[in-house]
Amino acid sequence: MATPHGTAALALAAVLCLLPALASAQLKVGFYQKTCPNAETLVRQAVSAAFAKNAGIAAGLIRLHFHDCFVRGCDASVLLTVNPGGGRTERDAPPNNPSLRGFEVIDAAKAAVEQSCPSTVSCADILAFAARDSVTLTGNVFYPVPAGRRDGSVSKELDANANLPPPTFTAQQLIDRFKNKSLNAEEMVLLSGAHTVGRSFCASFVDRVWKNGTNTPIVDAGLSPSYAALLRALCPFNTTQTTPITTAMDPGTLNVLDNNYYKLLPRGMGLFFSDNQLRVDANLNAMVNRFAANETLWKERFAAAMVKMGRIQVQTGRCGQVRLNCSVVNPSSSSSIELPSLSLADEEQEGVVATS
Ligand code: HEM
Ligand SMILES: *[C@@H]1O[C@H](CO)[C@@H](O)[C@H](O)[C@H]1NC(C)=O
Ligand SMILES: *[C@@H]1O[C@H](CO)[C@@H](O)[C@H](O)[C@H]1NC(C)=O
Ligand SMILES: *[C@@H]1O[C@H](CO)[C@@H](O)[C@H](O)[C@H]1NC(C)=O
Ligand SMILES: *[C@@H]1O[C@H](CO)[C@@H](O)[C@H](O)[C@H]1NC(C)=O
Ligand SMILES: *[C@@H]1O[C@H](CO)[C@@H](O)[C@H](O)[C@H]1NC(C)=O
Repeated sequence: MATPHGTAALALAAVLCLLPALASAQLKVGFYQKTCPNAETLVRQAVSAAFAKNAGIAAGLIRLHFHDCFVRGCDASVLLTVNPGGGRTERDAPPNNPSLRGFEVIDAAKAAVEQSCPSTVSCADILAFAARDSVTLTGNVFYPVPAGRRDGSVSKELDANANLPPPTFTAQQLIDRFKNKSLNAEEMVLLSGAHTVGRSFCASFVDRVWKNGTNTPIVDAGLSPSYAALLRALCPFNTTQTTPITTAMDPGTLNVLDNNYYKLLPRGMGLFFSDNQLRVDANLNAMVNRFAANETLWKERFAAAMVKMGRIQVQTGRCGQVRLNCSVVNPSSSSSIELPSLSLADEEQEGVVATS
């Protein structure tokens, strides 16, 4: 049993782990330079090998990092197949299942890194490196990734449903959701440009071309009629979440990270309702036009926005753990100090006040 003093210390540690500014300030480029100098090389090799077999995996890894960071912060919670507290995990949530991909690439990278430097490199950092390498492979853009993230121990389906923006969001809802993750409207528009790579299942856009699951054709106001006809021919009216049909979001060049996303929008070829919202809103549309006109500008700012996204609510230092297997939390005997599941109310009852 913990002593009262021990309990208070643990609670204080928990409060400190929850201070976001403190935590993100501790991420560092070259974090593993001394403890695992080849970590980033090993991750890059795993991503390159997977990319050679299936170029679409790059898009999968970029999205995996986004879906990690928006739910409980960039803590690799999206990778867990089991929540120690029970219940369905983020991976089971409709925004992630069945569309999210790239898990096996992270597992391969983790296996290589563990062999070289056991129990040192977090899954959350591996994911951030892998997303960067995917940007490099598809867009010929390199950016240094500040690292030192620690892995979380909780993954809940409901957190994914509540925090990931759905493709039915309006411009204002998109702005608000990104703002809640400390990203501004321009960063939202910049990061949406990731839809220049990858694919989507029918379920995410079918309601723009078929009326509410019936065989009555419609054309969403933001879609060009010819593009809508293509999508209607591809996706059955009775599409469900698991209908195994996908389409490229940037039809010509689905494995090239370019600024074509912004050029497609004014042509009524943004695949999602949410994509088209970027041109419905005048402020956002001005940004769309700027990024459509200058790819260098977009790539520079996209890289910076990826780095900023990678800082969302990270745990660092002695908070969280370095998972040994990215799919499951460590057995408690091998875990380091973990964030106890105290609510703020619990902490107040214990009379612990965070100072900074
Ligand atoms: C702005 C709000 C966003 C919405 C509403 C949104 C929505 C979606 C949806 C519905 C899909 C298709 C899922 C399916 O297959 O059914 C998708 C795919 C994708 N998204 Fe987003 N997304 C957003 C922002 C982002 C951001 C910030 C990134 C990364 C920086 C991103 C990267 C991707 C990528 C790369 C894919 C393709 C995945 C693959 O091919 O496996 N998205 N997104
Ligand atoms: C985001 O929303 C959550 C839940 O409403 C809130 O607790 C949190 O403070 C918000 N974060 C930011 C940065 O706005
Ligand atoms: C759409 O269809 C579902 C069932 O298929 C029905 O419950 C719902 O009311 C319909 N919505 C509209 C707006 O017609
Ligand atoms: C969709 O409708 C088609 C023809 O109307 C039918 O053959 C098929 O079984 C339906 N699929 C689902 C998933 O309901
Ligand atoms: C495009 O953006 C780059 C990077 O910000 C800038 O150096 C360049 O001058 C811009 N090009 C044009 C034509 O505005
Ligand atoms: C990681 O854990 C999963 C789930 O328990 C298991 O299937 C997998 O084999 C483990 N991977 C390694 C490398 O131990």
